[in-house]
Amino acid sequence: MSATNAPPVTHGKAAAIFVCILAALAGLMFGLDIGVISGAQQFLQKDFGISDDTLGWIVSVMMLGAALGALGAGWLSSQLGRKRTLILGAVLFVGGSVLCGAAPTPEVLLVGRLVLGVAIGLASFTAPLYLAEVAPESIRGAMISLYQLMITIGILVAFLSDTALSYSGNWRWMLGIIAIPGALFLLGVAFLPESPRWLLMKGRHPEAEQVLQRLLGDRAAIAKEIGEIQEQLKTPQRGVHMFLQNANFRRSVGLGVLLQVMQQLTGMNVVMYYAPRIFQGMGYATESQMWFTAIVGLVNVLATFIAIGLVDKLGRKPILYIGFVVMAIGLGVVGTMMKLGTLTHGQQFFTVGMLLVFIVGFAMSAGPLIWTLCSEIQPLKGRDFGIGCSTFTNWVANWLVGLSFLPLLNSIGQAETFWLYGAFNVLFIGLTVWLVPETKGVTLEQIERNLMAGKPLRRIGQ
Ligand code: BGC
Repeated sequence: MSATNAPPVTHGKAAAIFVCILAALAGLMFGLDIGVISGAQQFLQKDFGISDDTLGWIVSVMMLGAALGALGAGWLSSQLGRKRTLILGAVLFVGGSVLCGAAPTPEVLLVGRLVLGVAIGLASFTAPLYLAEVAPESIRGAMISLYQLMITIGILVAFLSDTALSYSGNWRWMLGIIAIPGALFLLGVAFLPESPRWLLMKGRHPEAEQVLQRLLGDRAAIAKEIGEIQEQLKTPQRGVHMFLQNANFRRSVGLGVLLQVMQQLTGMNVVMYYAPRIFQGMGYATESQMWFTAIVGLVNVLATFIAIGLVDKLGRKPILYIGFVVMAIGLGVVGTMMKLGTLTHGQQFFTVGMLLVFIVGFAMSAGPLIWTLCSEIQPLKGRDFGIGCSTFTNWVANWLVGLSFLPLLNSIGQAETFWLYGAFNVLFIGLTVWLVPETKGVTLEQIERNLMAGKPLRRIGQ
Protein backbone atom coordinates (compact mmCIF):
# COMPACT_ATOMS: atom_id res chain seq x y z
CA MET A 1 0.00 0.00 0.00
CA SER A 2 1.43 3.36 -0.92
CA ALA A 3 1.45 6.35 1.39
CA THR A 4 -0.97 8.25 -0.79
CA ASN A 5 -3.84 5.73 -0.96
CA ALA A 6 -3.58 4.46 2.61
CA PRO A 7 -6.80 4.86 4.59
CA PRO A 8 -6.64 7.51 7.31
CA VAL A 9 -6.33 6.14 10.84
CA THR A 10 -8.15 8.24 13.38
CA HIS A 11 -6.40 7.21 16.57
CA GLY A 12 -2.85 7.85 15.43
CA LYS A 13 -1.89 10.02 18.37
CA ALA A 14 -3.34 7.61 20.90
CA ALA A 15 -1.35 4.77 19.36
CA ALA A 16 1.82 6.86 19.56
CA ILE A 17 1.21 7.66 23.22
CA PHE A 18 0.58 3.98 23.93
CA VAL A 19 3.88 2.84 22.43
CA CYS A 20 5.71 5.61 24.23
CA ILE A 21 4.25 4.56 27.57
CA LEU A 22 5.39 1.02 26.96
CA ALA A 23 8.88 2.03 25.96
CA ALA A 24 9.05 4.37 28.93
CA LEU A 25 8.57 1.36 31.19
CA ALA A 26 12.25 0.82 30.44
CA GLY A 27 12.72 3.92 32.58
CA LEU A 28 10.94 2.20 35.45
CA MET A 29 13.52 -0.56 35.44
CA PHE A 30 16.33 1.99 35.24
CA GLY A 31 14.96 3.61 38.41
CA LEU A 32 14.34 0.35 40.26
CA ASP A 33 17.94 -0.56 39.60
CA ILE A 34 19.33 2.76 40.88
CA GLY A 35 17.14 2.78 43.97
CA VAL A 36 17.14 -0.85 45.03
CA ILE A 37 20.70 -1.35 46.25
CA SER A 38 20.79 1.40 48.90
CA GLY A 39 18.39 -0.40 51.25
CA ALA A 40 19.76 -3.89 50.62
CA GLN A 41 23.42 -3.08 51.33
CA GLN A 42 23.64 -3.45 55.08
CA PHE A 43 21.72 -6.76 55.15
CA LEU A 44 23.64 -8.55 52.44
CA GLN A 45 26.92 -7.33 53.89
CA LYS A 46 26.02 -8.92 57.21
CA ASP A 47 24.76 -12.12 55.58
CA PHE A 48 27.83 -12.72 53.45
CA GLY A 49 30.27 -11.21 55.95
CA ILE A 50 31.95 -9.18 53.21
CA SER A 51 34.22 -6.13 53.47
CA ASP A 52 33.29 -2.55 52.50
CA ASP A 53 35.49 -2.92 49.43
CA THR A 54 33.61 -5.98 48.14
CA LEU A 55 30.34 -4.26 48.91
CA GLY A 56 31.54 -1.22 46.98
CA TRP A 57 32.14 -3.46 43.98
CA ILE A 58 28.72 -5.06 44.25
CA VAL A 59 27.15 -1.58 44.23
CA SER A 60 29.24 -0.06 41.46
CA VAL A 61 29.66 -3.02 39.10
CA MET A 62 26.12 -2.32 37.91
CA MET A 63 27.06 1.16 36.66
CA LEU A 64 30.07 -0.34 34.94
CA GLY A 65 27.82 -2.98 33.30
CA ALA A 66 25.45 -0.20 32.26
CA ALA A 67 28.32 1.69 30.63
CA LEU A 68 29.23 -1.46 28.69
CA GLY A 69 25.59 -2.10 27.75
CA ALA A 70 25.20 1.47 26.50
CA LEU A 71 28.37 1.07 24.46
CA GLY A 72 27.13 -2.11 22.78
CA ALA A 73 23.58 -0.84 22.40
CA GLY A 74 24.46 1.53 19.56
CA TRP A 75 25.65 -1.33 17.40
CA LEU A 76 22.92 -3.74 18.53
CA SER A 77 20.02 -1.37 17.95
CA SER A 78 21.28 -0.54 14.50
CA GLN A 79 21.79 -4.24 13.59
CA LEU A 80 18.89 -5.93 15.39
CA GLY A 81 16.56 -2.95 15.49
CA ARG A 82 15.25 -0.94 18.44
CA LYS A 83 12.53 -3.38 19.39
CA ARG A 84 14.69 -6.50 19.59
CA THR A 85 17.33 -4.61 21.57
CA LEU A 86 14.66 -3.60 24.10
CA ILE A 87 13.53 -7.25 24.28
CA LEU A 88 17.10 -8.38 24.90
CA GLY A 89 17.44 -5.74 27.64
CA ALA A 90 14.22 -7.00 29.28
CA VAL A 91 15.35 -10.66 29.20
CA LEU A 92 18.70 -9.76 30.78
CA PHE A 93 16.90 -7.64 33.37
CA VAL A 94 14.70 -10.52 34.48
CA GLY A 95 17.66 -12.95 34.47
CA GLY A 96 19.92 -10.54 36.36
CA SER A 97 17.31 -9.83 39.06
CA VAL A 98 16.66 -13.53 39.65
CA LEU A 99 20.39 -14.21 39.81
CA CYS A 100 20.88 -11.41 42.38
CA GLY A 101 18.00 -12.61 44.56
CA ALA A 102 19.16 -16.24 44.48
CA ALA A 103 22.94 -15.63 44.61
CA PRO A 104 24.58 -18.31 46.80
CA THR A 105 27.91 -16.41 46.96
CA PRO A 106 29.08 -12.78 46.67
CA GLU A 107 30.72 -13.70 43.35
CA VAL A 108 27.39 -14.78 41.83
CA LEU A 109 25.80 -11.60 43.17
CA LEU A 110 28.54 -9.63 41.46
CA VAL A 111 27.76 -11.36 38.14
CA GLY A 112 24.03 -10.78 38.66
CA ARG A 113 24.61 -7.04 39.21
CA LEU A 114 26.79 -6.90 36.12
CA VAL A 115 24.07 -8.55 33.99
CA LEU A 116 21.52 -6.15 35.44
CA GLY A 117 23.80 -3.26 34.53
CA VAL A 118 24.15 -4.44 30.94
CA ALA A 119 20.35 -4.72 30.75
CA ILE A 120 19.92 -1.14 31.98
CA GLY A 121 22.65 0.09 29.65
CA LEU A 122 20.80 -1.42 26.69
CA ALA A 123 17.46 -0.04 27.82
CA SER A 124 18.72 3.42 28.83
CA PHE A 125 20.20 3.80 25.37
CA THR A 126 17.43 2.30 23.26
CA ALA A 127 14.31 3.61 24.99
CA PRO A 128 14.98 7.37 24.53
CA LEU A 129 16.16 6.68 20.97
CA TYR A 130 12.94 4.81 20.24
CA LEU A 131 10.83 7.52 21.87
CA ALA A 132 12.47 10.29 19.84
CA GLU A 133 11.86 8.33 16.64
CA VAL A 134 8.28 7.33 17.33
CA ALA A 135 6.70 10.25 19.21
CA PRO A 136 5.02 12.97 17.11
CA GLU A 137 6.90 16.29 17.33
CA SER A 138 4.21 18.12 19.25
CA ILE A 139 4.55 15.75 22.21
CA ARG A 140 8.13 14.54 21.71
CA GLY A 141 9.57 16.47 24.65
CA ALA A 142 6.81 15.38 26.98
CA MET A 143 7.15 11.74 25.90
CA ILE A 144 10.83 11.65 26.68
CA SER A 145 10.11 13.37 29.99
CA LEU A 146 7.73 10.52 30.60
CA TYR A 147 10.74 8.24 30.41
CA GLN A 148 12.36 10.27 33.19
CA LEU A 149 9.13 10.14 35.19
CA MET A 150 9.28 6.37 35.05
CA ILE A 151 12.90 6.48 36.28
CA THR A 152 11.86 8.53 39.29
CA ILE A 153 8.86 6.27 40.00
CA GLY A 154 11.21 3.28 39.83
CA ILE A 155 13.54 4.91 42.37
CA LEU A 156 10.62 5.72 44.69
CA VAL A 157 9.15 2.22 44.44
CA ALA A 158 12.57 0.72 45.20
CA PHE A 159 13.02 3.04 48.23
CA LEU A 160 9.57 2.08 49.54
CA SER A 161 9.95 -1.63 48.87
CA ASP A 162 13.36 -1.62 50.56
CA THR A 163 11.89 0.16 53.56
CA ALA A 164 9.03 -2.33 53.82
CA LEU A 165 11.34 -5.35 53.49
CA SER A 166 13.93 -3.86 55.86
CA TYR A 167 11.86 -4.97 58.87
CA SER A 168 12.54 -8.60 57.97
CA GLY A 169 15.98 -7.75 56.59
CA ASN A 170 15.29 -9.90 53.51
CA TRP A 171 17.69 -8.47 50.94
CA ARG A 172 17.03 -11.42 48.57
CA TRP A 173 13.43 -10.31 48.14
CA MET A 174 14.52 -6.68 47.76
CA LEU A 175 16.76 -7.59 44.82
CA GLY A 176 14.70 -10.44 43.36
CA ILE A 177 11.28 -8.77 43.37
CA ILE A 178 12.19 -6.41 40.53
CA ALA A 179 12.10 -9.42 38.18
CA ILE A 180 8.29 -8.98 38.23
CA PRO A 181 8.16 -5.50 36.63
CA GLY A 182 10.93 -6.78 34.32
CA ALA A 183 8.70 -9.62 33.13
CA LEU A 184 5.80 -7.20 32.57
CA PHE A 185 8.05 -4.97 30.53
CA LEU A 186 9.14 -7.93 28.43
CA LEU A 187 5.53 -8.75 27.75
CA GLY A 188 4.68 -5.16 26.80
CA VAL A 189 7.69 -4.58 24.61
CA ALA A 190 6.88 -7.70 22.59
CA PHE A 191 3.83 -5.79 21.25
CA LEU A 192 5.71 -2.62 20.24
CA PRO A 193 6.02 -1.76 16.56
CA GLU A 194 9.54 -1.36 15.21
CA SER A 195 10.75 2.24 14.74
CA PRO A 196 9.77 3.46 11.23
CA ARG A 197 13.06 5.30 10.89
CA TRP A 198 15.03 2.14 11.50
CA LEU A 199 12.85 0.20 9.04
CA LEU A 200 13.49 2.80 6.34
CA MET A 201 17.19 2.69 7.10
CA LYS A 202 17.08 -1.05 6.42
CA GLY A 203 15.07 -0.50 3.22
CA ARG A 204 11.91 -2.07 4.66
CA HIS A 205 9.58 0.51 3.16
CA PRO A 206 6.16 -1.23 3.35
CA GLU A 207 6.64 -2.11 7.02
CA ALA A 208 7.70 1.46 7.82
CA GLU A 209 4.56 2.74 6.14
CA GLN A 210 2.35 0.39 8.11
CA VAL A 211 3.87 1.54 11.40
CA LEU A 212 3.52 5.21 10.42
CA GLN A 213 -0.14 4.66 9.63
CA ARG A 214 -0.64 3.47 13.17
CA LEU A 215 1.43 6.30 14.65
CA LEU A 216 0.49 9.35 12.60
CA GLY A 217 -2.86 8.37 11.14
CA ASP A 218 -2.73 11.15 8.56
CA ARG A 219 -1.81 10.41 4.96
CA ALA A 220 -0.16 13.74 4.27
CA ALA A 221 1.87 13.50 7.46
CA ILE A 222 2.98 9.96 6.58
CA ALA A 223 4.13 10.97 3.11
CA LYS A 224 5.96 13.99 4.53
CA GLU A 225 7.66 11.96 7.26
CA ILE A 226 8.79 9.26 4.80
CA GLY A 227 10.05 11.91 2.39
CA GLU A 228 12.06 13.66 5.09
CA ILE A 229 13.62 10.49 6.44
CA GLN A 230 14.53 9.26 2.96
CA GLU A 231 16.09 12.56 2.09
CA GLN A 232 18.46 12.10 5.02
CA LEU A 233 19.21 8.49 4.22
CA LYS A 234 20.98 9.73 1.10
CA THR A 235 23.86 10.90 3.28
CA PRO A 236 26.23 7.94 2.91
CA GLN A 237 27.81 8.05 6.37
CA ARG A 238 27.42 6.13 9.58
CA GLY A 239 28.50 6.08 13.22
CA VAL A 240 32.23 5.75 13.68
CA HIS A 241 33.03 6.62 10.05
CA MET A 242 30.87 9.67 10.27
CA PHE A 243 32.58 10.64 13.51
CA LEU A 244 35.99 10.41 11.88
CA GLN A 245 34.97 12.20 8.69
CA ASN A 246 32.45 14.81 9.69
CA ALA A 247 33.42 17.68 11.99
CA ASN A 248 29.78 18.73 12.39
CA PHE A 249 28.90 15.32 13.73
CA ARG A 250 31.82 15.49 16.15
CA ARG A 251 30.28 18.69 17.49
CA SER A 252 26.92 17.05 18.23
CA VAL A 253 28.60 14.01 19.80
CA GLY A 254 30.73 16.32 21.96
CA LEU A 255 27.63 18.23 23.02
CA GLY A 256 25.81 15.01 24.00
CA VAL A 257 28.79 13.90 26.08
CA LEU A 258 29.03 17.31 27.75
CA LEU A 259 25.30 17.36 28.52
CA GLN A 260 25.51 14.04 30.34
CA VAL A 261 28.59 15.10 32.31
CA MET A 262 26.61 18.20 33.29
CA GLN A 263 23.64 16.11 34.39
CA GLN A 264 25.74 13.93 36.66
CA LEU A 265 27.84 16.81 38.07
CA THR A 266 24.70 18.56 39.28
CA GLY A 267 25.22 16.21 42.24
CA MET A 268 21.84 14.44 42.00
CA ASN A 269 23.15 10.93 42.49
CA VAL A 270 25.07 11.94 45.58
CA VAL A 271 21.63 12.39 47.12
CA MET A 272 20.17 9.27 45.45
CA TYR A 273 22.88 6.96 46.80
CA TYR A 274 23.73 8.64 50.09
CA ALA A 275 20.53 10.36 51.26
CA PRO A 276 20.30 8.42 54.55
CA ARG A 277 23.91 9.27 55.32
CA ILE A 278 23.34 12.96 54.55
CA PHE A 279 20.37 12.99 56.92
CA GLN A 280 22.48 11.23 59.50
CA GLY A 281 25.04 14.03 59.14
CA MET A 282 22.25 16.52 59.95
CA GLY A 283 21.64 14.69 63.20
CA TYR A 284 18.61 12.55 62.34
CA ALA A 285 17.98 9.06 63.79
CA THR A 286 17.60 5.96 61.57
CA GLU A 287 13.80 6.01 61.31
CA SER A 288 13.74 9.65 60.21
CA GLN A 289 16.52 8.93 57.71
CA MET A 290 14.30 6.28 56.07
CA TRP A 291 11.30 8.58 56.00
CA PHE A 292 13.19 11.52 54.56
CA THR A 293 14.74 9.29 51.91
CA ALA A 294 11.24 8.20 50.87
CA ILE A 295 10.18 11.88 50.77
CA VAL A 296 13.18 12.65 48.55
CA GLY A 297 11.95 9.89 46.20
CA LEU A 298 8.42 11.27 46.21
CA VAL A 299 9.47 14.89 45.57
CA ASN A 300 11.64 13.62 42.72
CA VAL A 301 8.57 12.03 41.11
CA LEU A 302 6.25 14.98 41.67
CA ALA A 303 8.63 17.65 40.38
CA THR A 304 9.13 15.69 37.16
CA PHE A 305 5.53 16.62 36.30
CA ILE A 306 6.62 20.27 36.17
CA ALA A 307 9.01 19.35 33.36
CA ILE A 308 6.40 17.28 31.53
CA GLY A 309 3.97 20.16 31.64
CA LEU A 310 6.42 22.84 30.59
CA VAL A 311 8.91 21.25 28.19
CA ASP A 312 6.93 21.71 24.99
CA LYS A 313 5.55 25.10 26.10
CA LEU A 314 8.42 27.02 27.70
CA GLY A 315 11.12 25.18 25.78
CA ARG A 316 14.28 23.42 26.90
CA LYS A 317 16.62 26.31 27.66
CA PRO A 318 14.46 28.42 30.02
CA ILE A 319 13.71 25.30 32.06
CA LEU A 320 17.39 24.42 32.26
CA TYR A 321 18.26 27.94 33.46
CA ILE A 322 15.63 27.79 36.18
CA GLY A 323 16.78 24.29 37.19
CA PHE A 324 20.48 25.14 37.48
CA VAL A 325 19.73 28.32 39.47
CA VAL A 326 17.44 26.43 41.86
CA MET A 327 19.99 23.61 42.27
CA ALA A 328 22.85 26.05 42.90
CA ILE A 329 20.82 27.87 45.56
CA GLY A 330 19.67 24.61 47.17
CA LEU A 331 23.16 23.14 47.42
CA GLY A 332 24.75 26.44 48.43
CA VAL A 333 22.35 26.82 51.35
CA VAL A 334 22.62 23.15 52.40
CA GLY A 335 26.42 23.51 52.47
CA THR A 336 26.20 26.74 54.46
CA MET A 337 23.83 25.19 57.00
CA MET A 338 26.18 22.26 57.41
CA LYS A 339 29.02 24.68 58.02
CA LEU A 340 27.03 26.66 60.60
CA GLY A 341 25.70 23.48 62.25
CA THR A 342 22.14 22.15 62.31
CA LEU A 343 21.49 22.06 66.04
CA THR A 344 17.87 23.10 66.46
CA HIS A 345 14.84 21.37 64.95
CA GLY A 346 14.15 24.46 62.91
CA GLN A 347 17.66 24.46 61.42
CA GLN A 348 17.46 20.74 60.62
CA PHE A 349 14.08 21.14 59.00
CA PHE A 350 15.19 24.11 56.95
CA THR A 351 18.23 22.17 55.69
CA VAL A 352 16.10 19.18 54.67
CA GLY A 353 13.78 21.63 52.92
CA MET A 354 16.65 23.12 50.94
CA LEU A 355 17.83 19.65 49.94
CA LEU A 356 14.31 19.03 48.64
CA VAL A 357 14.49 22.34 46.76
CA PHE A 358 17.60 20.97 45.06
CA ILE A 359 15.74 17.76 44.15
CA VAL A 360 12.91 19.83 42.64
CA GLY A 361 15.48 21.80 40.61
CA PHE A 362 16.93 18.62 39.14
CA ALA A 363 13.68 16.78 38.55
CA MET A 364 12.04 19.72 36.75
CA SER A 365 15.04 20.35 34.49
CA ALA A 366 18.29 18.44 33.96
CA GLY A 367 16.75 15.08 34.90
CA PRO A 368 14.40 14.80 31.93
CA LEU A 369 15.74 17.50 29.61
CA ILE A 370 19.26 16.19 29.22
CA TRP A 371 17.89 12.88 27.95
CA THR A 372 15.52 14.76 25.66
CA LEU A 373 18.26 16.93 24.20
CA CYS A 374 20.69 14.04 23.79
CA SER A 375 18.25 12.16 21.60
CA GLU A 376 17.26 15.25 19.59
CA ILE A 377 20.60 16.69 18.57
CA GLN A 378 22.13 13.72 16.70
CA PRO A 379 21.81 13.34 12.91
CA LEU A 380 19.96 10.20 11.80
CA LYS A 381 22.90 8.27 10.38
CA GLY A 382 24.94 8.87 13.50
CA ARG A 383 22.12 8.85 16.01
CA ASP A 384 22.90 5.38 17.37
CA PHE A 385 26.56 6.20 17.79
CA GLY A 386 25.93 9.69 19.18
CA ILE A 387 23.37 8.60 21.79
CA GLY A 388 25.59 5.61 22.60
CA CYS A 389 28.45 7.97 23.43
CA SER A 390 26.32 10.24 25.60
CA THR A 391 24.59 7.39 27.45
CA PHE A 392 27.95 5.72 28.03
CA THR A 393 29.17 9.03 29.48
CA ASN A 394 26.11 9.22 31.73
CA TRP A 395 27.01 5.90 33.34
CA VAL A 396 30.74 6.51 33.62
CA ALA A 397 30.12 9.94 35.21
CA ASN A 398 27.44 8.38 37.42
CA TRP A 399 29.94 5.78 38.56
CA LEU A 400 32.62 8.39 39.31
CA VAL A 401 30.22 10.63 41.25
CA GLY A 402 29.10 7.67 43.35
CA LEU A 403 32.64 6.55 43.96
CA SER A 404 34.12 9.95 44.82
CA PHE A 405 31.49 11.26 47.25
CA LEU A 406 32.77 9.68 50.47
CA PRO A 407 36.46 10.41 49.71
CA LEU A 408 35.44 14.03 48.96
CA LEU A 409 33.59 14.34 52.28
CA ASN A 410 36.63 13.04 54.11
CA SER A 411 39.14 15.25 52.34
CA ILE A 412 37.55 18.66 51.68
CA GLY A 413 34.61 18.37 54.11
CA GLN A 414 30.83 18.07 53.94
CA ALA A 415 29.90 21.73 53.41
CA GLU A 416 32.66 22.19 50.85
CA THR A 417 31.49 19.13 48.89
CA PHE A 418 27.99 20.62 48.57
CA TRP A 419 29.45 24.01 47.62
CA LEU A 420 31.55 22.33 44.96
CA TYR A 421 28.47 20.79 43.35
CA GLY A 422 26.66 24.11 43.77
CA ALA A 423 29.49 25.82 41.88
CA PHE A 424 29.19 23.27 39.05
CA ASN A 425 25.55 24.25 38.67
CA VAL A 426 26.51 27.92 38.35
CA LEU A 427 29.02 26.97 35.66
CA PHE A 428 26.29 25.03 33.81
CA ILE A 429 24.15 28.17 33.49
CA GLY A 430 26.97 29.65 31.41
CA LEU A 431 27.45 26.48 29.36
CA THR A 432 23.73 26.39 28.60
CA VAL A 433 23.78 29.98 27.32
CA TRP A 434 26.83 29.25 25.20
CA LEU A 435 26.24 25.76 23.79
CA VAL A 436 22.75 24.37 24.30
CA PRO A 437 20.24 24.69 21.43
CA GLU A 438 16.50 25.27 21.86
CA THR A 439 14.83 22.29 20.17
CA LYS A 440 11.21 22.93 21.10
CA GLY A 441 8.81 22.25 18.22
CA VAL A 442 11.56 21.72 15.63
CA THR A 443 11.70 18.53 13.55
CA LEU A 444 14.71 16.28 14.01
CA GLU A 445 15.31 16.75 10.30
CA GLN A 446 15.57 20.54 10.66
CA ILE A 447 17.98 20.20 13.58
CA GLU A 448 20.12 17.92 11.44
CA ARG A 449 20.12 20.34 8.49
CA ASN A 450 21.27 23.17 10.74
CA LEU A 451 23.98 21.07 12.35
CA MET A 452 25.34 19.94 9.00
CA ALA A 453 25.22 23.48 7.65
CA GLY A 454 27.74 24.36 10.36
CA LYS A 455 25.49 26.61 12.45
CA PRO A 456 26.73 27.22 16.02
CA LEU A 457 25.40 24.52 18.35
CA ARG A 458 23.16 26.92 20.24
CA ARG A 459 21.42 27.78 16.96
CA ILE A 460 20.79 24.30 15.49
CA GLY A 461 17.22 24.34 16.74
CA GLN A 462 16.19 27.42 14.75
C1 BGC B 1 19.76 10.35 35.83
C2 BGC B 1 20.10 9.38 36.92
C3 BGC B 1 19.44 9.84 38.20
C4 BGC B 1 17.96 10.02 38.01
C5 BGC B 1 17.31 10.59 39.25
C6 BGC B 1 18.29 10.45 35.69
O1 BGC B 1 17.97 11.33 34.67
O2 BGC B 1 20.35 9.94 34.61
O3 BGC B 1 21.48 9.30 37.07
O4 BGC B 1 19.65 8.90 39.22
O5 BGC B 1 17.71 10.87 36.92
O6 BGC B 1 15.95 10.81 39.09
